[in-house]
Amino acid sequence: MANTSRPTTRRLQQMVRAYREAGALMAAVELDLFTHIANGSDDESSLTKAMGLQPLHGERIIIAMLGLGLLERSADKLKLAEDVERYLVKGKASYAGEWMLFTKPDWEDWGRLSEILKQKAPPVLENKTVAGITIQEARRYHRGTYSIGRGAGRLFLNQVDLTGKKLLMDIGGGSGAYCIEACKRYPDLKAIVLEMPAVAPVTQEFIDESGLTDRIEARVCDFNHDSFPEGADIAIMASNLPMYGREAIGAVVHKAYKTMASGGTFHLIGEALDASRSGPPDPALWGLAQAINNTTGIAHSVSEVEGYLSLAGFTDVETTQFVEGILQRTSGQK
Ligand SMILES: C[S@@+](CC[C@H](N)C(=O)[O-])C[C@H]1O[C@@H](n2cnc3c(N)ncnc32)[C@H](O)[C@@H]1O
Repeated sequence: MANTSRPTTRRLQQMVRAYREAGALMAAVELDLFTHIANGSDDESSLTKAMGLQPLHGERIIIAMLGLGLLERSADKLKLAEDVERYLVKGKASYAGEWMLFTKPDWEDWGRLSEILKQKAPPVLENKTVAGITIQEARRYHRGTYSIGRGAGRLFLNQVDLTGKKLLMDIGGGSGAYCIEACKRYPDLKAIVLEMPAVAPVTQEFIDESGLTDRIEARVCDFNHDSFPEGADIAIMASNLPMYGREAIGAVVHKAYKTMASGGTFHLIGEALDASRSGPPDPALWGLAQAINNTTGIAHSVSEVEGYLSLAGFTDVETTQFVEGILQRTSGQK
């Protein structure tokens, strides 16, 4: 009898060529392939023309999108998969194409990762992805985070009731997406976004665009070195957990505790590993990505995050799933 439990190379083969999936999807986003279909170029020939490609390349990228399940075919018409329809059609409020390209600058470095991992230089606290970047790079970076962060901000508000809260401090708040969504929903709430000097002017642009300039402040503050505003009764630190090591994150949480108002609530929404530190894959790979800039960053586990909050003095520390497999929300009370 055949041994049915014998391992195969299938999963390994899929994993080792996953870069092709990433490349194909990024190209489709850059070529506006999905947007052209939504705008009516929904057969192979008209879509190829709309993208400005020669027929052979058009056929190749369209077949790849069908093969990946991002498109479906019905007779000779091309149809968008549900998630593609919602997130990858330009012009829709839910468009997140910029977020799909967010990590593209790391592309070449992942191709030489073993070489990078063999380097022996000690890690540096300063994170080059955000320290001293140009305004153009800060805009590119935060068009990405804003495209996904508004939804995350609304998800936060669906999980956490901010009734009665007066001042929200968003530590490394980027585009200000969480504060913008929160201030839209709670007319008496004010907010301060703490950001790196290179990023804060871009934060200000998003705030201005939202029409909430009178209630949200973009404040220059490197959270590793600078002091925090006093008196926030709600604080968020979202999607920057793997960028720094244990000591740095612990210090930031401690500084938040010291400056927050009594009765305030702190939420760390992070790409955290589960308690066993053996997954999920996405946080694990965010941790590995930190090798590229040789930062102190690492994949922290939910237990470690809970430890940072408890050690700082927060009570009632608990973790709630935020985005399955991607983000966890750990909260505590002062
Ligand atoms: C992936 S973005 C997330 C932005 C935002 N929290 C969100 O969820 O939409 C990470 C943010 O952390 C900020 N950040 C990283 N290190 C920082 C530091 N030392 N001080 C202040 N902000 C920092 C970055 O500038 C960037 O805006």
